[in-house]
Amino acid sequence: MVKKQPFYITTPIYYVNDAPHVGHAYTTLACDVLARFKRLDGFDVKFLTGTDEHGQKVEKSAEKAGIDPQNFTDKVSKNFQTLTHKMNFTNDDFIRTTEQRHKIACQDVWKRLLDAGDIYLGSYSGWYSVRDEAFYVESELINNYEGTKIAPTGAEVEWLEEPSYFFKLSAWQERLLAFYKKNPEFILPLTRRNEVISFVEGGLQDLSVSRTSFKWGVSVPNDDNHIMYVWLDALTNYITAVGYPDTEHEEFEKFWPADLHMVGKDILRFHAVYWPAFLMAANLEPPKRIFAHGWWTNEGEKISKSLGNVIDPLELIETYGLDQVRYFLLREVPFGNDGDFSRSAMVRRINGELANDFGNLAQRVLSMINKNCNGQVPEKGIFTKEDEDFLDRVDGLLSIVREALDIQAFHIALESIWTEIRNSNHYIDHQAPWTLKKENPDRMNTVLYILAEVIRQLAMVAQPFVPEAAGKMLDQVGVSELNRNFNQYGLKGRLNVGVKLPKPQGIFPRYVDELDS
Ligand code: MSP
Repeated sequence: MVKKQPFYITTPIYYVNDAPHVGHAYTTLACDVLARFKRLDGFDVKFLTGTDEHGQKVEKSAEKAGIDPQNFTDKVSKNFQTLTHKMNFTNDDFIRTTEQRHKIACQDVWKRLLDAGDIYLGSYSGWYSVRDEAFYVESELINNYEGTKIAPTGAEVEWLEEPSYFFKLSAWQERLLAFYKKNPEFILPLTRRNEVISFVEGGLQDLSVSRTSFKWGVSVPNDDNHIMYVWLDALTNYITAVGYPDTEHEEFEKFWPADLHMVGKDILRFHAVYWPAFLMAANLEPPKRIFAHGWWTNEGEKISKSLGNVIDPLELIETYGLDQVRYFLLREVPFGNDGDFSRSAMVRRINGELANDFGNLAQRVLSMINKNCNGQVPEKGIFTKEDEDFLDRVDGLLSIVREALDIQAFHIALESIWTEIRNSNHYIDHQAPWTLKKENPDRMNTVLYILAEVIRQLAMVAQPFVPEAAGKMLDQVGVSELNRNFNQYGLKGRLNVGVKLPKPQGIFPRYVDELDS
């Protein structure tokens, strides 16, 4: 048997200071679609997500809730685990940074950095934002409308003065630039890559990597007064989960370096500058790609707790349906750009693209087969030039989707699938099998055979995006669960004539607003 190629994909680990919102669901959804696609495409996939549980921000939230940090994180982490189930995410592991396996990994990374001479003791005096868990230099700060200094992200900052260990980031500038040059697709999209490169070219300062003024974190080996900076701790999760510090661990050997860390644009610098520098200093390989996606606003406004416009993914699923939400989030906005969430746009896409375009196509074809072909995949006759061209186009779809997903262009993948769906609706209108019923039943059978086969192919490539609906569609064209991988796809896998099909059922219901009905 041929050995499967490994594919390791990660989400950021989520701060447990708050309930999950649509932004969190979005990052993990993108990874889930890729993980599902790669599994169907024959890869050995590891898909990791989890929670980021240390640091001042989480400690403060626990304090505010009046619970000790460990119990607090246990509780909030559960909400993220619930979300992964509710969104039908297929992560293979869920890491929590308060786990023992992770603390051991962090301390080992620290020792490697220390042994390499990249960590020294000093003292930090400067600005810190607890919300961002980030250090800022004076020149990065801006004044808010009251004249108070704030971080460029809008977060409050405070002045810190405390003993601290530093990582010699300044020494890594040239090596990082050389690494970006050698790996032109390490950071995507390319505009983000350019931003990172100019930031690094502007010069790097040594980075404070320990704190002494609070306790909620992983202790620095041999110096209990310090806990590790939460980002050094958090980033390490990506190697903890594949068995580090055991670098001979089967999973480490198979999956490291990771193929893709998916992140939001706000946390790109940590992933594309600090993380490869830490890894190279620790004599470990950097990941192969960091993709930074954009941010959602809600009906034109920044999403924030203080504005009270946070979008709860669980409410969305309740209201619109899971596959509908999954589809909308990846369809609405070119992946990488910022996007605006609006309920009217959601309803338009659900009714126009899922119910009308895709749902009706399946419904029309399958109910005709049910009524006129004995409920079986119909006999096929000779194909016309139009039939051949139609099938050829659909046969080409998988490679278009594969190429798009290889650069995380989810919107292009979906657009190409929907182009073929629309094309199929033209084909059915043009062929008008309902008229052929009387005039030429053999031709009607052929046309319905071709359409059933096309529905099979469309459902196959749609699986990663709308798994439940695509699964139902495949059931209805009689494809067994064993035949849903892509190696079965294409010419080799045409539908078998005569297979008995179940009674068709609607797959994508229209959304009807209760107020309108
Ligand atoms: N804990 C860090 C990540 C550590 S990774 C080693 C963190 N956590 S977070 O919970 O604040 O954010 C996680 C992800 O959610 C980020 O990728 C962020 O971009 C994403 N989003 C948060 N709000 C968002 C939107 N409004 N829109 C889209 N994604 C957003 O950062």
